Amino acid sequence: MVTKTIIVNPVSPEPAAIHEAASVIRRGGLVAFPTETVYGLGANALDADAVRKIFAAKDRPASDPLIVHIAALAQLDEIAEQIPPLARALAAAFWPGPLTLVLKRRAIVPANVAAGRETVAVRMPAHPVAQALCAASGVPIAAPSANLFSRTSPTEAAHVLEDLAGRIELLLDGGPTPIGLESTVLDLTQSPPVLLRPGGVALEQLQRLIPEVVFAPRYMATHSQADAQASPGMLLKHYSPHAKLRLFAGAPERVLARMREVAQQAQAGGRSDDLALIGRRVFSSMRELDQHGVELILVRGFAREGIGLAIWDRLIRAAEGRVIDVDL
Ligand code: TXA
Ligand code: MG
Repeated sequence: MVTKTIIVNPVSPEPAAIHEAASVIRRGGLVAFPTETVYGLGANALDADAVRKIFAAKDRPASDPLIVHIAALAQLDEIAEQIPPLARALAAAFWPGPLTLVLKRRAIVPANVAAGRETVAVRMPAHPVAQALCAASGVPIAAPSANLFSRTSPTEAAHVLEDLAGRIELLLDGGPTPIGLESTVLDLTQSPPVLLRPGGVALEQLQRLIPEVVFAPRYMATHSQADAQASPGMLLKHYSPHAKLRLFAGAPERVLARMREVAQQAQAGGRSDDLALIGRRVFSSMRELDQHGVELILVRGFAREGIGLAIWDRLIRAAEGRVIDVDL
């Protein structure tokens, strides 16, 4: 299969491009498209065969459930049931935007979307291209990040092609994605709600509506069936660049001293505290370093607040859990 790329205007996408992409979705094909977080790999969420193609194209284990993207609130009631008032309040506050809600799944959504769970993860994306595609397709769109399984998420069209060229029909190239990290995933089927993945909507923002919500990650080293069932998408080896990545924690002076020691052996470095900028660049930087043939990446810690918590989560997993904490 040859992957066709169409360049689209990220602010007001060309109707012809959207129309073509929507017709691919409607006939069960795969389309990669930009969202405000990362590029997604989309298929008709109500078509089990189309959804199966997503898992195949990504080499993704069938135990890892997908996020369903909707264009309008009416679609929420089509795919989820027993929707609590809190879900409506969160949708009103953060949709369209980078917040994914896990709710009770309706039978119209095929089980493979949810990796067999009774739940479904839903979000309404804010990116004009994603919105237009969802609206024109007329169906909810299941879309994981458009990368091969366990690799870094794509924030530019070129990243999608590196992983998926020849595996998907169409790519809408809308330029770099504005946030650069995936959506926040919040499970509303548990009480109190459980933050499964920090992301584009900050924990502090959620806590204004849900004071008791915390982030207590359950990263897992292997993808056993039981673990995958309890904590989908929490594999410790994830977002991996080819280079070794080591994450440092602790007081900045001691971290720097320790980094210097490690760097003496391996030579590395780099610093910046603009968290929004780091968020936007973190995945593309790992890819870029890989392309330069780098063998070891040292990352200095930073404040785990705001988008910083999401960045930390991605890096701890890129490091496969190997945090060098000089305060311990
Ligand atoms: O920002 C994003 O969320 C991007 C864009 C494309 O929307 N999508 C994305 O999808 O990051 P993906 O497949 O890379 O991550 C989906 C994750 C799963 O790994 C799991 O952690 C969680 O969402 N998830 C999905 N469905 C779930 C469910 N039914 N129950 C619990 N967690 C679920
Ligand atoms: Mg992903």
